[in-house]
Order: sequence, then C-alpha cells, then structure tokens
Amino acid sequence: MSLPKFLTDKNLIPNVTINPALNYLGTESAFDFGAKVMEVEKSGKFPQIYKFHVGDTGPKTPQPIIDVAIKALQDKQTKYGHFAGYPQVRENIAKHWNKTRGINITKDNVLLQPGGKPAIEMSIQALVAPGDKIIVQNPGYPIYDSLANFYNHGNVLNWSARRDEIKNTLEFDVEDLKKLLEENTQVKLLMLNTPQNPTGMVFGKEKLEQIAELVRQYKFFVVFDDIYDQIVFGGDKQQFSFLSIPGMLDYTINLNGFSKNFAMTGWRLGFIIAPAWLIEIFGKFAINKYTAVPRFSQIAAGAVFGDMELDGCKYECISDKVQEIIVKDFVEYEHKGKFVEASLRLLSPYVVPNVAEGAFYLFPSFHKVLNLSYVKNNLAITTDKQLSNWLLTEKGIATLAGSDFGSMGAGYVRFSYAEDRDNHIIPGMKHVLKTVIELIEKSGETSPLTTAEVDSKVDQLVKKYF
Ligand SMILES: Cc1ncc(COP(=O)(O)O)c(C=O)c1O
Repeated sequence: MSLPKFLTDKNLIPNVTINPALNYLGTESAFDFGAKVMEVEKSGKFPQIYKFHVGDTGPKTPQPIIDVAIKALQDKQTKYGHFAGYPQVRENIAKHWNKTRGINITKDNVLLQPGGKPAIEMSIQALVAPGDKIIVQNPGYPIYDSLANFYNHGNVLNWSARRDEIKNTLEFDVEDLKKLLEENTQVKLLMLNTPQNPTGMVFGKEKLEQIAELVRQYKFFVVFDDIYDQIVFGGDKQQFSFLSIPGMLDYTINLNGFSKNFAMTGWRLGFIIAPAWLIEIFGKFAINKYTAVPRFSQIAAGAVFGDMELDGCKYECISDKVQEIIVKDFVEYEHKGKFVEASLRLLSPYVVPNVAEGAFYLFPSFHKVLNLSYVKNNLAITTDKQLSNWLLTEKGIATLAGSDFGSMGAGYVRFSYAEDRDNHIIPGMKHVLKTVIELIEKSGETSPLTTAEVDSKVDQLVKKYF
C-alpha cells in the first residue's frame, strides 16, 4: 500500500512504517477549502468573497450563555471537569430530552463530549469488530465515510440517494437500505443524519419508522445525528427523533450538541445520548482521549437546560432567555433558505435546487451547467470540484463541491446560507445568478432570465422572504 501523498510530500524518513489505514482517512472540505477561501480573500482579487461554503453559524453565541461562562471563570472553575459531565449537567440534558422526545432516560444515558464529532469515532471504536460493516449515507457528512473507512479499511457500505432524472433531485429510499441489509451480513452500524448535511433534507417520522423496523429485524445500531434538530422549517416535515420510536433507545447513539442550534461551534461542546452500558464505554474513552470537557463549558451547558450548582457557586437556568434568542436565528435561517432556493430556481432547468427543509444547506444540481459547451470546451471544467474551484478563484463565490460529500454528490454544489443576509446571501445570490447566466449565454443557449432582469427579480424575492 502506498503512502498517502501528504506524508510522502513531507519527506518522511525512508523505511519508516506508518499505519497503512491512513490511506483511508478522508477530510472535511469545509475546513480545507475554507483555508483556500481565506487565501483568495487575502489576495485582494475581489472586493468581496460571497461565502456560501461555511458550515459555521452566522449568528453568534447568545449573550446569556457567554455570561454564565464568564461567571464560571470568575468563580475560578478552572480545574479538570468531570470526565462524563457533572451529574447535574447530564440530569438537565436528560430532563430536556425526556420532555422533547417523549422518552424516559436518566443522566446515565448522557455523556458530554468536546463537540458533536467525537461520538462518531467512539461509536465505531466501541462497536465495530473485524468483519463488521458500517453503512453511511451518500451523499453525507464526510467524517462518517472518512472514519468508517479508516477503521474498517474500506469495508463500508453506501446508502446512496437516488437521483430523480426528471426532477433532478436526490432522495434516500428505505428500500435501498433494506436491500443492503438483505445482501450483507454483519452490518453493525448505520450512520443517519437529519436534518442532513449536505442536502438540508429532513427525514420525516414515517421514514424513520421504516428504518426502525429494519433495526428490529436486522439488529444493528444507529448513530442518529440530529445536531441541527431545532433548525427545521415547518411545512409537512417536522423533526422527529429516532429515540421516540418504541424500542430504539436500546439501539441508538444520538449525537447532538451546542454547535449549530446555539451557535457555539468554537466552544467544542456536544453530548451523546445512548444506552447506559455504551455511555460507560464512552466515559472510559473520554478518560483515555481528552479527560473532560472544560469545566466552565460544562457549567454553561448545564445552565442552558436548568439550574446549576458546583462547588458552592450557583448558576441560574438561562433556558427561556436563550430559547427566545435562538428561535429568531431559526426564523432567519428559514427565510434565507427559502430565499436561496427561490433565487436558484430562477435558473431552472440549468440549476435545480432541492426544497430547503432544515439545517442551513441546499444541494442544487448543476449537472446542466457542467454540460454547457462553454463550460466544457472553453473553461475545460468537467467536474463539480473544478466548477467550485473556478467559482472561487474567478468569480469570488465560495461554495463546496458536491462530490466532497460522496460520489452521489457529483454534479451538485453545496450552498450554505448560514452567513449574513445583507453582506453575503442577497448580493451573493445576484452574483451567482449573473455568473450562471453568462455561462449559459456564452454557450449559445437561451437563459431562463437575462442579466438585466436579475436585480429586480431577486429584489422581489427579498420582499417576499424577508
Ligand atoms: C451532520 C454533522 N454532524 C456533526 C457535526 C460536528 O459537529 P461539531 O462541530 O459539534 O463537532 C457537523 C458539523 O458540521 C455536522 O454537519
């Protein structure tokens, strides 16, 4: 097995053996590409880069949470924290989960973790034995595929979304998951994410119940990642938890946290809900890996859901204050999502967006743009990766290539609408539309709207959605 490029490039000492599984380790392009965006921004080539690539939140952490953390630091809450999370923090989270999911868990089913991400690796390390198989969604959050392949050496199954050739949209069909389970033995884990990154699609109750039926039949575990659970846009699909389905508590590792809902990505603060025996294993991992989530963060986490007391210092519950703030963020996400969807729809059939259902992502098809003669012949662009690169370096539009999220993402582009409405989303959409129109017209085809119409059409949408 050859060395991965990043290691050979660094002139590794000859004959030193490294873990060959590194060949399977992937990455999250939001971070890699993010560095490139910063470079282009610094070069000064464009007055502004329109940022549709970020996986970070536009809004900032609500002030009441910051205030609790500051008070905790002033109270000198600076020593090691509890490896699993202080009992009161976990109790507060458990109570909130019982109320919102209609379940009956205790603090023994909860573990604080640094961000939501560690649950992915810990689940694999705790459950997957040699020969076991892991199913990941394709397209999906790339860390699932990366870590599943790293630990399982390519023995990873893809639940691939179906592409509707006419509507040009993606859909995960439970029948395809069933087929994977029928055709493979030893499936141990399914990685399931809703609202989904990168598509922004939400799995409704019915679909989750169909998956639960497969769990009962085939007995596998589900990493249920609902880290965007509060960012769901009404309509007919409400967020529904896999945990709420009878019997699923025993099979579910629920990844959640503060990053997205509470705009706390930089705090690295998340939690896991799982069967108590698994939480015990994860606790052991915590001690071995990172010891504990910082103590002052634990206090802030606890206060978000209830009253907190630690070492004689009291911290009042800030739940209502925080909820009032973040609900406004969610309304703004919905408006931005619907606006971006409607703006991109103006380019149909060249660009076909899916429906903005949740999280802060859209995953429009750019297949027809990639097929334009000017794009193929003059710009020599044939893949979504090349297109997203060109959009950044030649037009100052930062997006992520669909294939960064799996092979089924080829031909799609991920648009995040987390960023600021007035500086990025509205002017950025106008720029995207004008750019695509130029590509259509230079290919000698008739664009669904002209460049001259863009500003007024988009302004109409601004009035409608904001
Ligand atoms: C689907 C999904 N799961 C997990 C994570 C990781 O969250 P955190 O930053 O809290 O580790 C992300 C972050 O982008 C995500 O999109």
